[in-house]
Amino acid sequence: MESQWGESGSVGVDGTRLADTAPEPLLTRDYETRPSLVYERLRQRHGAVAPVDLLGVPAWLVLGYREALQVLQDDDAWPKGLENWRARSAGEVPADWPLGPSLEVNHVLIQGGSGYGRLRTAWDAALKPFQDPGHPQAKRLKAAVTAYADELITLIGQGGGTGVADLSAQFSRPLPLMVASHLLGFPGSQGDDALMDMWRVLDAGPDAEPALERLLATLAELAAAKLDKPGDDFPSHLLAAHPGLSLDELARELFMLLGMTSDHVGILMSNTVVEVISGDGDGGVRASLSAGMIRETMNRVVMRKPPLVNFVPRFAARDTPLGNYTIRAGDPVWVSSAAAHADPLFADHVAAGSTISTRAHLSWGAGRRQCPARELASTVAAVGVGRLFERFSHLDLALPADQLPWRSSPFMRGLRSLPVRYELAPVPRQSAEQPPASASAPRTADPDADPDAEAVLPAPAARQRSSLWRYLTGLIRSGR
Ligand code: HEM
Repeated sequence: MESQWGESGSVGVDGTRLADTAPEPLLTRDYETRPSLVYERLRQRHGAVAPVDLLGVPAWLVLGYREALQVLQDDDAWPKGLENWRARSAGEVPADWPLGPSLEVNHVLIQGGSGYGRLRTAWDAALKPFQDPGHPQAKRLKAAVTAYADELITLIGQGGGTGVADLSAQFSRPLPLMVASHLLGFPGSQGDDALMDMWRVLDAGPDAEPALERLLATLAELAAAKLDKPGDDFPSHLLAAHPGLSLDELARELFMLLGMTSDHVGILMSNTVVEVISGDGDGGVRASLSAGMIRETMNRVVMRKPPLVNFVPRFAARDTPLGNYTIRAGDPVWVSSAAAHADPLFADHVAAGSTISTRAHLSWGAGRRQCPARELASTVAAVGVGRLFERFSHLDLALPADQLPWRSSPFMRGLRSLPVRYELAPVPRQSAEQPPASASAPRTADPDADPDAEAVLPAPAARQRSSLWRYLTGLIRSGR
């Protein structure tokens, strides 16, 4: 039978083309509620690589751990870059394909081709000051995260010393947004309106489109300001490392940073909080925390529940056997870290319940295109979670862990909300000679942290005027 993808459509070992395999829709209600069942069904039916329908467009989903590594580690055989997509070049991808807008923004995550190497090197250089533990900028970042976390916790505490809160809306989502603002070098809280637009874009609601336009305009203005007057911030470092970037290109990279930071780091934090509170199959986590093992907990969380569940597409450079199929040159291939982690080849090697978990997982990617911001993201999440468990003497889930609401997109999976009952820890008395840095924000002695974390905070009056702050204040609930 002739495929709608033309004569050159992909051919399976049994001679079937990609479209002729009658790909199952991936993004079903089952995918939303129990994605692991969907992956297992596909694995049973097709093996390590399955044809799927992504909102009307066929693609290969890589479910096998070995096959995922094979793709991720060979960028020449499986390059990114939408220009490599045969069906798109043939005009067979509908113009109104819902995934089009997120894939058609040509930034470092999506890009292939000759410009990529230079851009990636610039990203690594621009992130270095924030990730190198000995660098003053990395210390400032840590101090900033601590101060922002304390501000948010203090705000939640305005609902009372004990109460209920949604730690997703009131902590895990805003904290990385504030960090993104710091990385981008927005002066004070001036960027807040734009940052809140990022939420509208990520939530893909009815106002997503105008929000995206406003956001890109603001980022272009920011890019122009940094070109004119460089500072000690990510856009200025990126420009210094890649002076050839146009303002438009720089704005796209800033958009990418904002999206990754505000969504994925928040997901990681919420998931870690749930793991710590519920123990999720492992009773020893709270004790581990005091032993300084937040990062190890996070490594297990990121492996069990990767924030980025399916990676953006790569394309076969030539006809290549993968799993039980032959993937034809130009066919799109989506690696699923979530499915690969459930592959018995990987899952059977992860000792359940062990506090030391495997580092061989794919949650940060693999090969040359793996996440360049792993250290930064882990630090932000670890500091944030650490502050929560220090400032709250009790945190309990307000819903059973298996009833927490999830939100899924083709790319990510995270909690929609994280309702908790809390009790704030008593504020230790301060000595008369040493006035408190912030009346309700006791701070642990961290030899690496900037002693004056408040220096990174905007003036209180500016904070209260900011739209983000007004929004967060509106969420305060008295739980008595
Ligand atoms: C918990 C948070 C994060 C997770 C789980 C995560 C995960 C990942 C993964 C799996 C990839 C590889 C995707 C692929 O191979 O297609 C990736 C790439 C990337 N990530 Fe992250 N990331 C996180 C946070 C961040 C942050 C905060 C930034 C920016 C500051 C960032 C910047 C990037 C960039 C630029 C790439 C593209 C690298 C390339 O293609 O060369 N990520 N990330």
